[in-house]
Amino acid sequence: MKVLVIGGGGREHTIVKKIKENPKVTEIFAIPGNGGIARDAKCIAIDAKDIDSIVKFAGEEKIDYAIVAPDDPLVLGCVDALEAIGIPCFGPRANAAIIEGSKVFSKNLMKKYGIPTAEYETFDDMEKALAYLETAPIPTVVKADGLALGKGVVIAETREDAKAAVISMMQDKKFGASGDNIVIEEFLTGPEVSVLSFTDGKVVVPMVSSMDHKRAGDNDTGLNTGGMGTVAPNPYYTPEIAEECMEKIFLPTMNAMNAEGRTFKGCLYFGLMITEDGPKVIEYNCRFGDPETQVVLPLLESDLLDIMMAVTEERLAEADVRFANKSACCVIMASKGYPESYEKGFEITIPDELWDKVYVAGAKEEDGKLLTNGGRVLGVTEVSGTLAEAVYKSYKSVEKIHFDNEYYRTDIGRRALNGLQSIC
Ligand code: AMP
Ligand code: GLY
Repeated sequence: MKVLVIGGGGREHTIVKKIKENPKVTEIFAIPGNGGIARDAKCIAIDAKDIDSIVKFAGEEKIDYAIVAPDDPLVLGCVDALEAIGIPCFGPRANAAIIEGSKVFSKNLMKKYGIPTAEYETFDDMEKALAYLETAPIPTVVKADGLALGKGVVIAETREDAKAAVISMMQDKKFGASGDNIVIEEFLTGPEVSVLSFTDGKVVVPMVSSMDHKRAGDNDTGLNTGGMGTVAPNPYYTPEIAEECMEKIFLPTMNAMNAEGRTFKGCLYFGLMITEDGPKVIEYNCRFGDPETQVVLPLLESDLLDIMMAVTEERLAEADVRFANKSACCVIMASKGYPESYEKGFEITIPDELWDKVYVAGAKEEDGKLLTNGGRVLGVTEVSGTLAEAVYKSYKSVEKIHFDNEYYRTDIGRRALNGLQSIC
């Protein structure tokens, strides 16, 4: 089987490595891939947003199955376009990917179907948004409607900050058309949990829960990033909460999308906050999370490609989805200065024995060397019987990998370990 994976980050490297385990797979292509993925797949220099070129390549190469991993191509209709030439895919069609592509859509969906989330108002008129902020409860959260590289969310501690966020999105167009519409919502508190799930529109099968670490600095300080590390499972996600989520959030979301004629097939990611009033949805993503995937898939004991194909063929209920009863920790090694400006082009050295635990995000291959080429350079995942051990081993491995200007958080997993103490 020839499999094509769209995307070029740590998430895609994890998917590629997992797909490789399936004996039916004879060849894997990645568009565009990266210098690390190139060790496990043939990388093709096409932009992941260039749907026409992707379709042309997939048709010419007679791809048997495609996995569309990032949000942009999903929202742009990559799955629809590949299916139109007869290539089965993993990932939602554009009309379902809107659950991530438009926050106004997802908030209205939750309101219509009674799915717990933060109270909110939507605006397409800046003056009305500013007037609303005169009396809105503070802190408040301002969100651009569309995709904004994970940066379209501002937690405003003061009315002035909230107004500045509205102006930058709606007037200064900081995120382009993504800010034409905005959501202003209630500020929630509580531990955050990421739950990735497989769904074929008939059943929802949640994967092991995880915890992201979004801020750049230790103790959750500094700027928001794409994610500086993850652990799984997330100790705040107890079996009782999991049951409540299935009943009040996961199944109602699947049913709501079906009722809207937007059946979601693929990986539906629930970003949850466990508030005093129970779990609430912070955001939906229409895809695997990054770097959640780097801890979730290493814990998957059954075959990823078989599960994905079961989703495509709407027979997920029969699929074998099993996770190891272990813990995983992924520490992201980044370029100093990320998520703002940073230098690139430094050689990365990785001991051979660590390669199967490394998921490369921002690196390119040049003259046989692996060079840094992005903010998040790579992730190192260790799996172990306990979370404490997984965290310890990840940091031991991180110490063996080197590149100039490397930066990583030193407290990945600490909050989860504290949570374990307070819950047990
Ligand atoms: P997002 O880009 O939607 O993942 O949001 C980024 C981060 O902002 C989330 O992971 C939360 O930590 C935070 N956030 C988003 N919405 C809210 C909210 N309503 N209340 C509190 N924090 C929020
Ligand atoms: N780690 C959060 C995301 O993938 O959006």
